[in-house]
Amino acid sequence: KKIRIIGVPMDFGQHHRGVDMGPAALRYSGLASELRGLGYEVEDSGDVLVPVRDQGPDTEPGPKNYVSEITRVCQRVYDAGKQAIKENYIPLFLGGDHSIAMGTVGGVSHDGPTGLIWMDAHGDFNTSETSPSGNVHGMPLAALIGEGESSLVNMGRNGAKVDPDQVVLMGIRDLDTKERNRLKQSGITVYTMRDIDEQGISAVTHKALMKFVHMKNIHISVDMDVMDPAEAPGVGTPVPGGLTYREAHLFMEIIADSHKLASMDIVEINPILDQANRTARLAVDLTVSALGKRIY
Ligand code: ARG
Ligand code: MN
Ligand code: MN
Ligand code: MN
Repeated sequence: KKIRIIGVPMDFGQHHRGVDMGPAALRYSGLASELRGLGYEVEDSGDVLVPVRDQGPDTEPGPKNYVSEITRVCQRVYDAGKQAIKENYIPLFLGGDHSIAMGTVGGVSHDGPTGLIWMDAHGDFNTSETSPSGNVHGMPLAALIGEGESSLVNMGRNGAKVDPDQVVLMGIRDLDTKERNRLKQSGITVYTMRDIDEQGISAVTHKALMKFVHMKNIHISVDMDVMDPAEAPGVGTPVPGGLTYREAHLFMEIIADSHKLASMDIVEINPILDQANRTARLAVDLTVSALGKRIY
């Protein structure tokens, strides 16, 4: 099996500078060589073209939310994802902020449906009407099921890219009020941190996979803020009470055992906010687990 690494150094979806360095941080952590060590043929296709943002330091969230820049970048990501699947690669997308997932999930589902597991502290289910921040990285899941700004919804191909009953959200612990109400009405399956605490990550992951028994392909979109900030400090929107190292690994191992992982995102790593690149190193460890690394 072949893997294609696709870097997307995009930071337009939020106001903290630095998340555009995520692909480099992951590469420095040995991603490609670890994957080759598992027996994969690995091709690094480099980075998708992203315009340079015009200001220096962090800006406050404001009216300018870069929808047109994000749409243009996501269109390129969509095309890259579609092409990778067509050529029988497992595309591995390195963010960038989570708004890249509008392109990744759209592209990999171009020629057939994919189940989607969205690992996140947040729901990313706002629209421009409900978002308190205006930041587009809080909107990609809504756009993927066909809700929100029309340029985001109709990017790549018109309309919804996934059906709400093909989506599972896991690790959730921070929702905005209107976002929460929309999510409750959406038909999306949500496993909050409370569910994981009460039932255990193994049971919850198996339940999530049960939803996809009749599907061939699964995409996992991993926002590194799903992890507890003690494990993964290098993210722009940390929320206490996230997944432990062991829980996240077990999740990835169970995903690997399903043999359905067809594509994956690793997003929201911000090396400026990190401690000596440990968040990217953790992300590499989790990725190789998801792609089949076994202890025994
Ligand atoms: N819900 C908040 C917002 O809409 C935070 C979103 C965080 N999203 C993320 N991909 N880290 O702004
Ligand atoms: Mn902030
Ligand atoms: Mn998040
Ligand atoms: Mn997210």
